[in-house]
Amino acid sequence: MIDAIRKRRSVRAFLKKEVPEEKLKEILLSASFAPTSWGTKAWEFVIVKDAERKKALSKATAHSAFVKDAPLVIVVCYDPKTGRRFKEDSSICAEHIHLEAVNQGLASCFVQVADAGDPPGSAEPYVKKLLAIPENLRVQCMMPVGYAKRELAPHKESALDLKKIHYESF
Ligand SMILES: Cc1cc2nc3c(=O)[nH]c(=O)nc-3n(C[C@H](O)[C@H](O)[C@H](O)COP(=O)(O)O)c2cc1C
Repeated sequence: MIDAIRKRRSVRAFLKKEVPEEKLKEILLSASFAPTSWGTKAWEFVIVKDAERKKALSKATAHSAFVKDAPLVIVVCYDPKTGRRFKEDSSICAEHIHLEAVNQGLASCFVQVADAGDPPGSAEPYVKKLLAIPENLRVQCMMPVGYAKRELAPHKESALDLKKIHYESF
């Protein structure tokens, strides 16, 4: 597990190579194993492979341009009527997607949608309209998935900052 965590980097450049369905299935399975507040599993996923749709998605924010170059994008949505913790549940789920992508030899990046855009908050209605996501659902993020164009350096032991670890009290 620590290997995938160490290797996990935010990848923003992808090879033009399709993601095999079995790998996508494993990624979605691992997303479905994510913990949720009250066990509600209130997420919904939209898988986008269509080039025109990906191009439009990449215009959602100033930090999403590279989304169009991924072979597929998993848009992480959430039903706030079923679940109680939109941001926490969907972000943890996105991290499962990210880590299992690495485990499958793939790469991803958490691309913020909720509260993002210019003006702030405009990205979510934009993505919802584009993908015909029902009005009552929220959209936390997009997870582009593909083979990394180049490998980024893994995280190093030095990331552990002992000054930030407090025992018993701060
Ligand atoms: C909540 C959250 C939102 C993020 N939003 C974006 C984004 O919109 N676009 C992007 O390119 N990266 C985004 N990132 C990725 C971060 O920039 C990245 O995790 C950080 O720079 C550390 O790099 P690393 O993931 O390679 O360790 C986001 C990450 C998180 C956790």
